[in-house]
Amino acid sequence: MQKIVSLCKRRGFLFQSSEIYGGMNGCWDYGPLGVELKRNVKEAWWSEMVTHHDDISVLSGAASAYEMTGLDCSILMHPQVWKCSGHYDLFHDMMIDCKESKRRYRHDQVRGRWALLDDKRVFVTAICEPEEESETLMARAQKCFGLRAKERDRIGWDGDVVSLETVEDFDQVFGPDAKEPGTLTEPREFNLMFKTHMGALFDESSVAFLRPETAQGIFVNFKNVVDSSRVRIPFGIAQVGKSFRNEITPRNFTFRVREFEQMEVEFFCHPDSSQEWYRYWRDRRMQWYKDLGLSDSRLILREHSDSELSHYSTGTADIEYAFPFLPEGEYGELEGIAHRGDFDLRSHMEGKLNPASHPLEVELDEKGKPVHRGSGKDLSYRDPVTNDKYLPHVIEPSAGADRATLAFLCEAYTEDMAPDEKGEMQGRVVLKFHPRLAPIKAAVFPLVKKDGMPEAAQEIYRDMKREFPVFYDNKGAVGRRYRRMDEAGTPFCLTVDGQTLEDGTVTLRDRDTMKQTRLPVEEAKQAIREAIRC
Ligand code: GAP
Repeated sequence: MQKIVSLCKRRGFLFQSSEIYGGMNGCWDYGPLGVELKRNVKEAWWSEMVTHHDDISVLSGAASAYEMTGLDCSILMHPQVWKCSGHYDLFHDMMIDCKESKRRYRHDQVRGRWALLDDKRVFVTAICEPEEESETLMARAQKCFGLRAKERDRIGWDGDVVSLETVEDFDQVFGPDAKEPGTLTEPREFNLMFKTHMGALFDESSVAFLRPETAQGIFVNFKNVVDSSRVRIPFGIAQVGKSFRNEITPRNFTFRVREFEQMEVEFFCHPDSSQEWYRYWRDRRMQWYKDLGLSDSRLILREHSDSELSHYSTGTADIEYAFPFLPEGEYGELEGIAHRGDFDLRSHMEGKLNPASHPLEVELDEKGKPVHRGSGKDLSYRDPVTNDKYLPHVIEPSAGADRATLAFLCEAYTEDMAPDEKGEMQGRVVLKFHPRLAPIKAAVFPLVKKDGMPEAAQEIYRDMKREFPVFYDNKGAVGRRYRRMDEAGTPFCLTVDGQTLEDGTVTLRDRDTMKQTRLPVEEAKQAIREAIRC
């Protein structure tokens, strides 16, 4: 992972946010190559879900032809949206504070081990990468008992490394950065939404939140889309955009960050066919990652157990990837596909009027009646052909653009051998992106900077640039130019030489096989077009 992180910085894929001021935790900036890569990921998603979706092909079983359309909603929304979505009351992590170090930790992320010395027994804790855990805990125990390094073997252990969640009494607990035991507070709820104020007033009446997901903008516009376009159920609405979560411990490069982009679809269907649609989207979304190059052996589709499901969901599956920063056998979530029933539309319509279907706290007025907190608008759907009126069920494939981009980067990173200028085999670093995702599709090189070759190469470069991102490079030996392009993940290099001027052919070099083929420029262009087409 360290190699990937340093390549990302060196070649301009990702930089730490506000780096010259020491950086901003949980925020990252995409550099010149990174921005193109992420745009391609989002574009591949939008094209799969919306622009290239075939509205008329009929699927098997209850699943029928369906339409897909898009939205781009504001980040700031009415505060009541977050009340009805449940985020205001329920979107929190449990956190603990350390009174000594003044640091804050996510309760489930603090891990530790009971350490023994003579008649003393203390729980030492740390927050670190799994492979560093045992050494870090040993160093912590040594410090907490006031021992020297050579006295380490006096320390005994009681049980394995476990989460702090298994410890009830914190009196004997040494916090991850504390010098004394018993300095951790009891766990308490910490809402993950970023709070701000709108307008000139700075009081409770002006409170607003940065959206923690793009989904709610789609739900509150459901009626607008139905009324303004000709969509009929079943249909889906897609949105790509920024979301914000005040993660207590952002970590693992761009995997868990505070500002990120989501790619979400809310798919509205009849309750009777919703289970079939759930299975359809779950399998289709898994295939998308494979088609763009993630290997079968590093991807899993994990169905949630009943105890993991939200109270309104009858099925949720996560698509997970074996990121290299995780221990062997562990996976990180790329996307969740959830059957949300009618929870969201009903909440925005009725508020929390129905405690049986929404076991959230219900606010009562003086007469003991539930306070109406939804929009009060009828969000049900009337089918224009059958006249059937119902509240649609929703299947939600919800992906993270940054996590998908990171997975494609990790999968692409390869070290192999390639011949250098003298024909000797040397190690090379190559990013084997799917050509569709590659930031630069092709590079054009004149073999030498004379004899009309630069002019001919520039003409080819300008012509190709009208169709896709191309890079022109005339500096250094051709072998070195190939290597620079390999590191940027460029799938093709075209070299213009003396023969080009005579017969209009070029050599086309393939990044992955390193094979070079001589062919007419037009054919080389066509080969690139086909490789990057969806
Ligand atoms: N509307 C449903 C929803 O937001 P989620 O599982 O909380 O569900 C969906 O988020 C996806 O958004 C995740 O699978 C992940 O890819 C991405 N995501 C969530 N939190 C993130 C974070 N802190 N940093 C980066 N990506 C995140």
